[in-house]
Amino acid sequence: MTPKPATVIPRVRSRPVPARWQGEVEHVLFSDRQIARRVRELATEIEAEFQDRELVIVSLLNGTVMFLADLIRHLSLPLRLDFMGVSSYGAGTESGELVYTKELRLDVRGRDVLLVDDILDTGRTLHKVLAKLRALKPRRIKTCVLLDKVARRVEKVQADFVGFPIPDHFVVGYGLDYAERYRNLPFVGVLHPRMYQTGADAAVIAGRPAKKPGTRKSA
Ligand code: PRP
Repeated sequence: MTPKPATVIPRVRSRPVPARWQGEVEHVLFSDRQIARRVRELATEIEAEFQDRELVIVSLLNGTVMFLADLIRHLSLPLRLDFMGVSSYGAGTESGELVYTKELRLDVRGRDVLLVDDILDTGRTLHKVLAKLRALKPRRIKTCVLLDKVARRVEKVQADFVGFPIPDHFVVGYGLDYAERYRNLPFVGVLHPRMYQTGADAAVIAGRPAKKPGTRKSA
């Protein structure tokens, strides 16, 4: 019998949606265990890239909350941490009009920067934030996203470190929201279409109308 190569990773079967979220979440895309394992791997890849150089991590609010917390606890290189708040408001979901709700405070000039986001979708956010950061003259910038929805790309942008490429589904959990909800789910799941087909009802949060399905930004 031919022995199994050590590199073959056994396929993890999709876990059932926890009872509390059944009816809202269609299925689990990545379980907490799958995410934890991949985040550890990402940390190893990032450490190999930056060696022992001090890093400035720039994390985009709000979706990176869980990913970032898990990622940095596996990084043992010296680092400093800062956040940028970015949102798109106004009419036209896909307008790409970004509003900065929090500006960077750390000086990144001449520094090694790792830009962290939860999901790369159309690429508009990363494209614009990268341009803004590059103008601050860092030594180099690398990007890291947990999820990459390749099929929806509008801007020519790629992440250097990707947790999981995903199909074009509306995903929530592990920091990702729908109308600010579901960020607390410990897994990444596909939102049931009925949650955004039943009108803009509850989705209006602080004057921000619901996101259109398939888009991360507010309409
Ligand atoms: C989400 C996500 C990314 C962006 C990706 O942000 O966090 O920053 O959309 O979309 P893009 O590639 O099409 O630009 P969102 O505005 O939903 O804010 P949030 O992080 O607070 O959820």
